[in-house]
Amino acid sequence: MATDVPRHVAIIMDGNGRWAARRHLPRQQGHRAGAERLRDIVRACPKLGIKFLTVFAFSTENWRRRPEEIDGLMALMRLYPHSLADELKRNGVRVQFIGELQRLDRSVTNRLDELAALTASCDQLCLTVAVNYGGRAEMAAAARQVAERVASGELLARDITEDTLSAHLLTKDLPDPDLVIRTSGEFRLSNFLLWQAAYAEFEFVDTLWPDFTPGDLASIVRRYPGRIRRFGAAAG
Ligand code: FPP
Repeated sequence: MATDVPRHVAIIMDGNGRWAARRHLPRQQGHRAGAERLRDIVRACPKLGIKFLTVFAFSTENWRRRPEEIDGLMALMRLYPHSLADELKRNGVRVQFIGELQRLDRSVTNRLDELAALTASCDQLCLTVAVNYGGRAEMAAAARQVAERVASGELLARDITEDTLSAHLLTKDLPDPDLVIRTSGEFRLSNFLLWQAAYAEFEFVDTLWPDFTPGDLASIVRRYPGRIRRFGAAAG
């Protein structure tokens, strides 16, 4: 099946630290530049026909970073999405957050909840921001929920299908990503959307995230119609 536009694009925004290091700037400057770039990419998506954009903003492994860097990233989460609220709403961008959000400070989650509520009725682009997200943890949580349903007698073990698992994931309301992009020359999925990316196409680009432009995204999207996605079926 040939497809024109990837409906759902997922991005691993990597390379903020190296971008800052090359300029002899603190890492936080790289994250700030990365946040600005995310704004540009969000603006570009509807024009390119992308309906769902999911980005990896903070992984469950990112807690291993130095406390000052974690504090800086949390400050960005607290202030940045909010400063964009009016523009996001005006442009019809619905924002939602996935991940183990309960581990975040209340001052952060309150802001995230406010933004999600404010944009809930928007329908031009669905922006999903993964914060304290890990694909394995997500699957383990889904397995626990399904096990509880079996234990309570609500569900028979033999009736568990792939759809059952999908329906218990944090992305249950999203289609699977068609295209996963990772910037900064790394070739890893890093625990991002492990289940959901089973049939996704992949683009790995050398550009560091703060240098990744809407033009770069447009070229990747332009190349996409040439890709034939067979979902396991034989050619022809
Ligand atoms: C990876 O670069 C990037 C991150 C861990 C953070 C991504 C966050 C943003 C782009 C900020 C925007 C987020 C919101 C929603 C406000 P890295 O630090 O691992 O870079 P490196 O590999 O070069 O060190």
